[in-house]
Amino acid sequence: MSRVVVVGSFNVDHVWATATLPNPGETLAGRYSTGPGGKGFNQAVACARAGADTCFVCALGDDPGGDLARSLAADDGIDLRALRCDAPTGTAGIYVDGEGRNSIVIGAGANGELSTPHVEGQTDVLGRAAVVLAQLESPCEAVIAALRAGRAQGATTMLNPAPANAATTRELLALADIITPNETEFAGMVTRHVGERIDGDAIAALDQARLHALCRELLPAGTVVVTLGASGCFVSHAEEARRGDDKAFHRLAAEQVRPIDTTGAGDAFNGALAAALARAPDAAFAAHLRFASRYAALSTEHEGAALAMPRHGDVIARFGS
Ligand code: RIB
Ligand code: NA
Repeated sequence: MSRVVVVGSFNVDHVWATATLPNPGETLAGRYSTGPGGKGFNQAVACARAGADTCFVCALGDDPGGDLARSLAADDGIDLRALRCDAPTGTAGIYVDGEGRNSIVIGAGANGELSTPHVEGQTDVLGRAAVVLAQLESPCEAVIAALRAGRAQGATTMLNPAPANAATTRELLALADIITPNETEFAGMVTRHVGERIDGDAIAALDQARLHALCRELLPAGTVVVTLGASGCFVSHAEEARRGDDKAFHRLAAEQVRPIDTTGAGDAFNGALAAALARAPDAAFAAHLRFASRYAALSTEHEGAALAMPRHGDVIARFGS
């Protein structure tokens, strides 16, 4: 079976749906709900529901949040490898406005204790992974250990460099075959590593050849997928660029959907892309991108993060194959 190892965070999300996002000093009334989240877990659930045999390596507290992660992982057939910590299970406070946009504050808790030995100890699954996928809500050393182990045994390594305020080092980037920043994360990395100041809001309107050149500077040997929300995504490949292939870069438009909650849409995209790569490693990357993009679009029509992830069949039923 195709196997994806996701290394990352689990959070209990506390969500308030409000008409607008609160301003400093402002008190608003909102509709409250709670549910599972965390970029790592959301991506693992997406990956499993998109049809890949999935393992999730994380750190959990010895508390109801940790128990929730354990039981939900079992429901989705995810092979959970959780380090049990004294720190509380991770949390996130999320405001979602009337247009489905969000603001998030994270309490790392146990996620901050995900250790290198715990990651490196998962040799049985890492040793036969087709794809290793990580994000940056976990300690950098643990992420490095995961990508390094994946690369050492020939897996495709994917880094979703989120959230935007997390530090991406050159060392980290060099371990990724594929990176998947959103426009804000991409702009931050270009400023930091390419030395060019660029505004996240301007990315979707940038000339494609220019965007490609920036991607090539950022990740000279790998694939960069910039996710652009409702504007779709942009992909830039190193290999094809070297060959002078005219498919070295292209844009993909997003499907038209009616979003009510975009929380976890990036995670949906990443999990689905990893699953597609693991299931059909020899198929065209553009086909995987289309699936991931459709999968992510569909996830925004449901409230919540991990529980909003569609199934493979839902995507086919809605958009065809
Ligand atoms: O990407 C969405 C996720 O970010 C939420 O589920 C929240 O837990 C934060 O990690
Ligand atoms: Na959602």
